[in-house]
Amino acid sequence: MSNEIAQIDINQGYLYLTADKRSDIKDMDKLFEKSRYFQLELSAGQRLDFPAVFGNAHPVHLEIGSGRGEFLLQKAISHPEINFLALELKEKRIRTILRQLDPETHKNVRLIKLFVNEHVTDLIPAGSFQTIYIIHPDPWPKKRHNRRRLIQPKFIDVLHLLLQKEGIVKLSTDHEDYAGWIVRYFLERKDFSSIYKNGFTRNTPSDHVETFFEKVKREEGFPPFYMEFRKVKI
Ligand SMILES: C[S@@+](CC[C@H](N)C(=O)[O-])C[C@H]1O[C@@H](n2cnc3c(N)ncnc32)[C@H](O)[C@@H]1O
Repeated sequence: MSNEIAQIDINQGYLYLTADKRSDIKDMDKLFEKSRYFQLELSAGQRLDFPAVFGNAHPVHLEIGSGRGEFLLQKAISHPEINFLALELKEKRIRTILRQLDPETHKNVRLIKLFVNEHVTDLIPAGSFQTIYIIHPDPWPKKRHNRRRLIQPKFIDVLHLLLQKEGIVKLSTDHEDYAGWIVRYFLERKDFSSIYKNGFTRNTPSDHVETFFEKVKREEGFPPFYMEFRKVKI
């Protein structure tokens, strides 16, 4: 067991990777190389400058909680004209995504290991994103844990701030109670409008990418609720 830590200067930030399994140690060099290209970490007080990070002024889409990265990777490959930023809490998941990324084919992807909450606006300027994806956020099903859910009225304010004019938030969950919660909080606002009547659809949107997690849940008898809300002027 090793606990190697690397610190590499990237895009004026720093990145840390720890190896806690033999398989990680074996491909550590490759992971470092990839993280130097793909992974961003900002110093205190710094804010992301997307044209500087990506080297172009293409629109940027954000994914929060990318998991194994299937959605992110497929979107990035099919839309080279869009830049994608992924925010993921778990280092293990970041490593899984890094392993699949290739600087030749995924020039439009960057990752930040981050626990996303209201403070994300300290790192990211207002009006940064054309689209924000939140695919199967943790449902925190117990009543007493509901307050841990990512989608809360205050966090919807954050999403609103981060979106450009007429930007869109796309969400999905297999958890009926969380779907109802999300729909209720978005529909009670005047600064978002739902694309779908009643706030959701059970039909898979044509541009959706099914993740492994979603496939498993569908097979268990929990097909997703898909939601899409557009930022509107009030
Ligand atoms: C249920 S999994 C779904 C992953 C992926 N979107 C999918 O559909 O397969 C939720 C993911 O969100 C991440 N996550 C949960 N809360 C987070 C937060 N506050 N900030 C960033 N990532 C978070 C978890 O680490 C996990 O990878």
